[in-house]
Amino acid sequence: MSQTLSRISSDDSSSSPGTKRSIESFGVVGAGRMATQLVLLAAEKLRVPVLISDVSASRVTNALDEMRNRLNRQEAKGRLATGEAAEISGLIHGSTDPADFRSCDAVIEAVFEELSTKQAVLRQLEESVAPDALLLTNTSSLSVAAMAGVLKHPERVLGFHFFNPVAALPLLELVRTPFASDRAVADAGDLATKLDKTAVHVSDTPGFVVNRILTRIFSEVLAEIDKGSHPLDVDRALDPWGLPMTPLALIGYIGPAVQQHISDTLHRAYPDRFHRSAALSSVVEARLPSFFDEEGAVHPTALTLPSEPHGTDPDRIRRRVRDALAEEVQLMLDEGVAATPGDIDRCMVLGANFPPTGLACLS
Ligand SMILES: NC(=O)c1ccc[n+]([C@@H]2O[C@H](COP(=O)([O-])OP(=O)(O)OC[C@H]3O[C@@H](n4cnc5c(N)ncnc54)[C@H](O)[C@@H]3O)[C@@H](O)[C@H]2O)c1
Repeated sequence: MSQTLSRISSDDSSSSPGTKRSIESFGVVGAGRMATQLVLLAAEKLRVPVLISDVSASRVTNALDEMRNRLNRQEAKGRLATGEAAEISGLIHGSTDPADFRSCDAVIEAVFEELSTKQAVLRQLEESVAPDALLLTNTSSLSVAAMAGVLKHPERVLGFHFFNPVAALPLLELVRTPFASDRAVADAGDLATKLDKTAVHVSDTPGFVVNRILTRIFSEVLAEIDKGSHPLDVDRALDPWGLPMTPLALIGYIGPAVQQHISDTLHRAYPDRFHRSAALSSVVEARLPSFFDEEGAVHPTALTLPSEPHGTDPDRIRRRVRDALAEEVQLMLDEGVAATPGDIDRCMVLGANFPPTGLACLS
């Protein structure tokens, strides 16, 4: 650790203050749900070559096709000017060889939410890119320091957490680790602005801000369901707050398996407050995309339901969730996860589409 820290300070002093790293070429590792959106954002906003890679060649090919189609649809709808779809498509290239990232000034990884996979990807990238190229991770909940710590140049690794759908949600949680250099943080902030995102600085703690708050809501709601309350009763109880989706619909949107990864990370960090839910596990084990079937009824194969809804007092559920969030926000401020209550509100409004009043919508 001390060796790493001395390396950081010498790297920092060698960089000329005030000189920003210009991004002439951008890279994205992973060709999944988030990666394709990040490629489109980078190509459209930065107008530089963008490389996408995956372990699976067919995933790269499919992602390239999907992105071209999406751009053509946007042009057809008038959201892009005539010829822009072809111009942006022309900037996007695919590969399965990590060495092809060698000329990228910044690379973001958006591979599976597994620490060992992300560490391996970043180690491989470090072999190819320049020592001061930014290495960014889109992790939703894992420790960014644990990723940076396995590298020779951990000072240029930052969390760069976008929200789904990327084009619609303006927030970017910018996660700094103890290794990070001021220059990397400044370059990443500059990149966020060029990508037209609002960066909020958050600490390197499980789930950062948005996922910690959302997962605490899910935890309270799922604990009620695990105790035998009808899922529809519990899910609709929060309706008066005007949140963009009910908690169970939002888990379906995020993906039950993805959310279980995030919930597990938070449960490991704070087992007293983040419940491991049998109901969520059932949905994940049954490989269901949501708690609900196509008619909007709770999936009967996933959960044993009480015979009838309407057995749970919605006021009690709202009190429970409100008290839990009051506790969580206070802890986050005490721990310095975000600098101010305003930053937490900004994260929830810009990253989770909460009403403009932020967490005051709960009162
Ligand atoms: N899905 C969301 O709503 C969301 C939102 C914000 C952040 N994230 C985060 O973004 C990351 C990606 O999530 P996703 O939903 O896009 O996942 P996904 O499962 O859709 O895609 C992951 C991709 O990574 C590829 N991959 C796995 N190992 C690889 C390796 N070693 N090298 C190259 N490619 C590899 C897989 O083949 C797959 O195509 C995760 O860290 C997740 O937590 C997801």
